[in-house]
Amino acid sequence: MAAPRTVLLTGAAGGLGTLMRDLLPAYGYELRLLDLTPVADAPDAIAADLGDLDAVRAAVRGVDAVIHLAGISLEAPFDDILRANITGTYHLYEAARQEGVPRVVFASSNHAIGFTPRPGGGEPLIPAGTPHRPDTFYGLSKCFGEDLAQLYWDKHGLETVSVRIGSCFPEPTSVRMLSIWMSPADCARLFHAALTASGVGHTVVYGSSANTRLPWDLASARALGYDPQDDSEPYAAKLLAEHGELDPDNPEHAHLGGHFCTNPPMWPR
Ligand SMILES: NC(=O)c1ccc[n+]([C@@H]2O[C@H](COP(=O)([O-])OP(=O)(O)OC[C@H]3O[C@@H](n4cnc5c(N)ncnc54)[C@H](O)[C@@H]3O)[C@@H](O)[C@H]2O)c1
Repeated sequence: MAAPRTVLLTGAAGGLGTLMRDLLPAYGYELRLLDLTPVADAPDAIAADLGDLDAVRAAVRGVDAVIHLAGISLEAPFDDILRANITGTYHLYEAARQEGVPRVVFASSNHAIGFTPRPGGGEPLIPAGTPHRPDTFYGLSKCFGEDLAQLYWDKHGLETVSVRIGSCFPEPTSVRMLSIWMSPADCARLFHAALTASGVGHTVVYGSSANTRLPWDLASARALGYDPQDDSEPYAAKLLAEHGELDPDNPEHAHLGGHFCTNPPMWPR
């Protein structure tokens, strides 16, 4: 595959989309932007709902790759998740297949495996091949997205790197985030690796910096050429002084998904 130049960034108005709009052009990409809501300072951004297959198909036409960030990024009622994350991601893949787009970078989440026990000291890191254990309807939609990516690779030869993102914010703001934080600069490095590595088929990677407290194995990300430069540890002393270490007897701390495992209701509908 030739190195991609034109990349559709869905979810461009969101938190991660805004960070990547700043950082990815330095790697030589021309970004085409899409979001449901207006994108600040980007009058050419495509205003489209993932629910509209024709609009999504027009948006992917002619791009070399897609970074798919759009969707609901927290727990929500099932019908809302179904529309935005499940049907929406299906539309994205179907549009990419119909328009011959060869590669997608899919924003999956740690919440696809949120009920995985957090490894204690000395226990093995969580591998990329660990079974899905979603902690919410939101996490379940990311499991669907990963399986959809596998289907479109096996059946149609459309490649995907599914990135199980930990927490990508300018700095970690909780003790849990010390383990799964990904600096925005490392996120751009990882997306660039995911766009340019050859022969990825469908590859699942974890999206984080090289944190001292890492719970998962970055091997599949490093195999793409990802070389993380950041570590959350410089933020640890302040956060630990405020909140203390995670208590493994607290169900919220015992699993990778944190409070997603315990807090949000499962909305009946
Ligand atoms: N930020 C993180 O740390 C993190 C962690 C894990 C996974 N992720 C995933 O990365 C992606 C981006 O996360 P974020 O933090 O920027 O989320 P965000 O909520 O800030 O942004 C999501 C964007 O998607 C758009 N969107 C929602 N539904 C849409 C639809 N039907 N059609 C078109 N656009 C729609 C929203 O308008 C919004 O701008 C999400 O898929 C999220 O699940 C993010």
